[in-house]
Amino acid sequence: MIKPQTIQEILETARIEEVVGVFVSLRKRGMNHIGLCPFHNEKTPSFTVSPSKGIYKCFGCGKAGNSVNFLMEHEHYTYPEALRYLADKYQIEIEEEQQTPEQVKALSEQESLFHVTSFAQKYFSNNLFNTEEGKAIGLSYFKEREFKEDTIKKFQLGYCIDKWEGFTQHALNNGYKLTYLEKTGLTIVKEDKKYDRFRGRVVFPIHNLSGRVIGYGARILKSDSTKPKYVNSPESEIYNKSKVLYGIYFSRNAIIKNDNCFLVEGYTDVISMHQAGIENVVASSGTSLTTDQIRLIKRYTSNVTILFDGDPAGVKASFRGVDMILEQGMNVKIVLFPEGEDPDSYVRTNRISEVEKFITKGANDFIIFKTNLLLKESANDPIKKASLIKEIVNSIALIPDGIFRSVYIRECSNVMEVPEQSLMNELNRILRRRYKTQHKIPPEEEIQQTEYTDEKQIQVDNFDCEYKEKDIIRLILTYGDKTIPPDGEGDLEITVAEFIVNDIKNDELIFQNPYYQSIFDEYVSELEKNDVPTGKYFINHPDNKIAKLAIDLIATPYELSKYWEKNMIPVASESNKLKKAAISSILSFKDKKVDLLMMQALQEIKEAKDNEEIMLLQHKYQNLKRISKEINARLGRVITK
Ligand code: CTP
Ligand code: MN
Repeated sequence: MIKPQTIQEILETARIEEVVGVFVSLRKRGMNHIGLCPFHNEKTPSFTVSPSKGIYKCFGCGKAGNSVNFLMEHEHYTYPEALRYLADKYQIEIEEEQQTPEQVKALSEQESLFHVTSFAQKYFSNNLFNTEEGKAIGLSYFKEREFKEDTIKKFQLGYCIDKWEGFTQHALNNGYKLTYLEKTGLTIVKEDKKYDRFRGRVVFPIHNLSGRVIGYGARILKSDSTKPKYVNSPESEIYNKSKVLYGIYFSRNAIIKNDNCFLVEGYTDVISMHQAGIENVVASSGTSLTTDQIRLIKRYTSNVTILFDGDPAGVKASFRGVDMILEQGMNVKIVLFPEGEDPDSYVRTNRISEVEKFITKGANDFIIFKTNLLLKESANDPIKKASLIKEIVNSIALIPDGIFRSVYIRECSNVMEVPEQSLMNELNRILRRRYKTQHKIPPEEEIQQTEYTDEKQIQVDNFDCEYKEKDIIRLILTYGDKTIPPDGEGDLEITVAEFIVNDIKNDELIFQNPYYQSIFDEYVSELEKNDVPTGKYFINHPDNKIAKLAIDLIATPYELSKYWEKNMIPVASESNKLKKAAISSILSFKDKKVDLLMMQALQEIKEAKDNEEIMLLQHKYQNLKRISKEINARLGRVITK
């Protein structure tokens, strides 16, 4: 456990523009730095980094946070991983709290699984280099495949001794629990028997983005058709197959640098290409691509080049996967290797310059590639050709960018010798249909029938209420320490914080949103302890949800001047403006609370059983109505005064 003081020091030392600057190219603009948002696709920068506030915020997609959030979001680090990264960057020595046996026991399940997979990796590597069996069987196999020793070490390849429970026993002897061995799939437990899943195989550890081992692929060495060539780790709390790509940890920097990612099929393809000097490569590990995997690549580049073994049937089978890449707004190219070759064999038998030439020359745009391939199949068959057109236009329709879509329509009309307009018509038909299903637009007569139900009304009001609550929190976080003028002669000057807190506490008002309530409560207790807490206090809050909320609020500050200009208030001193802002915020907040209470009362009247109850409730309702009127009158005075 990292000590809280160390965490504080890390948070205070980290400079947001330096942390983000490693991953996003930033330009200075005024007080801030801006750049292209790494979390969504954009052409003009709306990603803003504020050194003074220590936060980033994208005005396009809304993502916002501090240095730690950025690393967690962008690099998929866990909270402690992000802290360690920053400590390392700023040379802050991490002070750890001594863990009690209870704490060790309570090590999160996730952490325990990581410990097991990492322990196994060391065991497998040691087998490979330091045992007779490992050297004779595992290492000699890798040598045969021309993997160099430093490549083997870099990818942490290993060997699992061919004994039923060689690893399992070793791990148990070292204090690792059987449940974790089983959960990571390293050990298979069947009734009273337990044995090593990967025995007698070479192993390829699979790393997550921070380089920790989350699972394994293990290849058989002898050719034995009764056994699968690869045995893989099952999914676990740390290994979600659909969310990782083999090699991403080793390749992401090269992917950013080359602004392109090669996608191959197997572990060995990734490793051989790396060894040959082509490092921007990842493998889908033989399964079909998922949206999460595509998004993972998209964090680093919008360009994917898929390297296929020379087998047209396999290529056709993967068209659906490629469509998913298009859907993410990425550019896809296809390279088809000669029959019988895969990237691994090709880079081993050709010089690197030849490989690069082959890839550049052989790379075909996916849409054009698909068109040509299907065209060949439908030669002289008009019916097939008609369905080919639909099929291609379907792919084109997936591309989010309209300009790219029309470029493809034009090119395909050339390749297919079909008028551009017919393709365009088909495209528009598909787009219209999709828009309707996505936005759930019902046929017109149904719209007229829908009525606003009470439930809907309440939801709308809740939203409005939330907005007022937000306003108050924002005001105290941004201007809490500013003073406002006293009400009358002899009164003391007080801070915005005191003014608002006193008023809300007097009326015992409760926030609907539990996070706002919790910020408010903490604010009050800090206020009672010492000074007015600053926004920074909440931005760096250990509760991530609270920190995020605070960041969000502070990133779009309460625009005092604009608000009052809009309401035609003559120039007032800042403290006067603040006072008005505070009063009107509180009044609007109360107004919403009263509205809610009135709504509840009405509902209760509807459900009431006897006359007396109804009368009481009506009385309550009238009272609320009077308060509401009063509030509104005061609100009106504040705004127009
Ligand atoms: N794969 C698998 N299980 C199998 C076969 C393949 O999980 N029974 C996955 C592996 O991730 C493998 C990828 O599919 O890396 C590609 O398969 P293949 O080309 O057969 O394996 P290579 O890794 O290329 O292995 P080799 O070059 O040694 O044949
Ligand atoms: Mn292969």
